[in-house]
Amino acid sequence: MTNNMPQRSSWPDGFIWGSATAAAQIEGAAWEDGKEDSVWDAFSRIPGRTLNGHTPETAVDHYHRMPADVALMKELGLDSYRFSTSWARVRPGDRSTNAKGLDFYSRLVDELLEAGILPWLTLYHWDLPQALEEKGGWANRDTAYRFAEYANDVYTALGDRVQHWTTFNEPFCSSLLGYGSGVHAPGRQEPRAAIAAVHHQHLAHGLAVNELRSRGAQQLGITLNLSNSIPLDAADPVDLEAARLFDSLQNRIFLDPILRGAYPEDTLTDLEPFGLREVILDGDLEIIGTPIDFLGVNHYHDDQISGHPDTSGADGHSGGSGRPVASPWIGAEHITFPTRGLPRTAMGWEVNPDGLRRLLVRLGEEYPTLPPLYVTENGAAYNDAVSTDGSVHDPERTQFILDHIAAVGRAVDAGADVRGYFVWSLLDNFEWSWGYNKRFGIVRVDYDTMARTVKDSGHAYSALIAELRGTG
Ligand code: NOJ
Repeated sequence: MTNNMPQRSSWPDGFIWGSATAAAQIEGAAWEDGKEDSVWDAFSRIPGRTLNGHTPETAVDHYHRMPADVALMKELGLDSYRFSTSWARVRPGDRSTNAKGLDFYSRLVDELLEAGILPWLTLYHWDLPQALEEKGGWANRDTAYRFAEYANDVYTALGDRVQHWTTFNEPFCSSLLGYGSGVHAPGRQEPRAAIAAVHHQHLAHGLAVNELRSRGAQQLGITLNLSNSIPLDAADPVDLEAARLFDSLQNRIFLDPILRGAYPEDTLTDLEPFGLREVILDGDLEIIGTPIDFLGVNHYHDDQISGHPDTSGADGHSGGSGRPVASPWIGAEHITFPTRGLPRTAMGWEVNPDGLRRLLVRLGEEYPTLPPLYVTENGAAYNDAVSTDGSVHDPERTQFILDHIAAVGRAVDAGADVRGYFVWSLLDNFEWSWGYNKRFGIVRVDYDTMARTVKDSGHAYSALIAELRGTG
């Protein structure tokens, strides 16, 4: 390991090394023990919505293999495991609380604590109960209040053992991709609904933070997917304007209400035709701006932006399942993502580790009230090959992870208050509209047998953790 060791002589005391998953991507057991449909169950059954028609019905069967999966985490030496609870399991159909659903998470938390692994819980990783979508979903303000009730249920069951509570994972995706581009569940292409969804998810976040803090929670935060917005030509006003619009919709529309208690003025103006001002009611921003204890940052790539048509021949951003979708860039549909010619992962995302350093440092510079940061996701999909002996040599993913950890180290050296790093993902899993076609795991899952095999990247990450801990 020493040759590849990310350069940083000492990491901050108590720095957390973890790995992450999400309920809908790994659990399976879609209708077991009282669980009902989430929007992802319903959406993925519609022909053409996910690649190859894949659904989360079985996923990687974590619901039935949880103790063995926790044993694997222990073997890898993880400090912490970031997972999400499924709203549709805890309050199926959003009626009453489902004791059996909560019991699964209670057993998971006990198993983790027994293994010496810190549970890092996310309440919303995109799996809204379908019953609530049928009442308007996130375009309906009432959903925010239902979320606070669900958060309360989970806190009642786990608040005695879980310290770290994340309200939302990447609200960008569950609002602008879910209701704007339609590439994510529920697959709506309604710009006004998408903007309402942004605000209602913010409100839900603030309501839950207030609620759980009043009940004694001390570590409350949110995870955002943030990206540097790099103008193609910093001397070209058209590119600069496009980069401003991208930064507004990808970053500041989420960061500012949460960290400053206000939407940016330019965002309010840009989104006036899409009803942003109309959905903000008196008192909302005080609730939304309630201080948080940490900010989770998910980072995979940064973005070079232009306001001109893309002549580079390849979109350097590229996401979704490849099927035709509307733009999530509401009011800024013309912006393009010219490639920089950097290496790409199997998602088509450009690899630029230093972008992570830049982002973490920039956050501290731009937000005076920034709480401690955790990199709650970072990782890469590659087309893994299985060797004849069953092992998986994934040098590109290994390098990706080590290079990004080194970039986090440089951010810490530059003064960023980063306190943890979670690899996405522990296991290969259901990659949303890409189905099972993209593998992000540091552990391979054989989808026929469900066997788990630690990839070289998993071994490397494990060795790194041990070495940094002084036990390697
Ligand atoms: C971020 C999301 O939180 C996660 O669910 C997804 O699998 C990864 N990005 C990779 O696309």
